[in-house]
Amino acid sequence: MMIVARTIDEFRKLRSELPSPLGFVPTMGFLHEGHIALVHQSVDENKATVVSLFVNPTQFAPTEDLANYPRNEESDFRLLEAAGANVVFAPQAEEMYADNHETWVVLDHLTRRLEGTIRPTHFQGVATVVSQLFHIVEPQSAYFGQKDAQQVLVIDRMIRDLHYPVLLRVGETVREPDGLAMSSRNTYLSPEERLAGPVLRRSLDLAEELWLEGERDAERIRKEMTDLIEQEPLARVDYVSIADTRTLDEIHVIDRKALVSIAVRIGKTRLIDNAILPPGEPLIARRQP
Ligand code: PAJ
Repeated sequence: MMIVARTIDEFRKLRSELPSPLGFVPTMGFLHEGHIALVHQSVDENKATVVSLFVNPTQFAPTEDLANYPRNEESDFRLLEAAGANVVFAPQAEEMYADNHETWVVLDHLTRRLEGTIRPTHFQGVATVVSQLFHIVEPQSAYFGQKDAQQVLVIDRMIRDLHYPVLLRVGETVREPDGLAMSSRNTYLSPEERLAGPVLRRSLDLAEELWLEGERDAERIRKEMTDLIEQEPLARVDYVSIADTRTLDEIHVIDRKALVSIAVRIGKTRLIDNAILPPGEPLIARRQP
């Protein structure tokens, strides 16, 4: 039976009874198959699985969609129970960030690239809440989706820099049949905009094809990808990046593992997706904590 804890105290009482190893899947709820695939992976690899549901206010900028962020707790609980989660931790913002909260986890370099250029405070919010959650949940392994590749790199860096005894596991991006990466934000798309969604994946496929044909000039690949996306009248490119997977600095010649990542606006909705070159390489090397 799955148990829901709404406070840190309640959770900690349950935590002491859970067997090891413990797997942890942090989420903001409104769960889809991408989230559930991470839960399945955790259930397969651990004796117990904790999932957090918390729409973290500090990772949203004042102009972003915090108030409108989609929620459906009942459906989330049903999906999590069916997937085999043992405990759901669903805290209140008032407890996670009490009045005088003033401690932040800030990463110097990685968080300034890609998403950080457009959302400068986003990863400070993500790193801070994940740090809090790691201290509360004390998992042996934590599961994150490659869909948010920069988030994976930021958490990987934080785990190493702050010596968390947590193994980071990365789940592959789960997609709709037409190639659009699953995302809670896809619900914002109008039916017409939804039809434009697959253009992200098509541009990543193009990057992989060009690389497989031997193209190593990153600027040429970025240009071809941008041209392809701009053929879609509803789509606006925010960035097309080919970057070193350790630093997220842009690459000129693709002579090492690279993260190809894109952010595209379709109407008012901002979508992101990514691929790794060479195709099929893992984003981060598997390592023991
Ligand atoms: P959220 O957007 O709810 O995503 C929770 C986890 O699901 C993240 O690790 C994300 O990368 C993964 N995920 C989302 N869509 C996916 C897909 N199509 N395929 C595979 N995995 C997917 O990411 C967050 O929440 C927050 O930033 C959080 C880490 C919970 C901190 O607040």
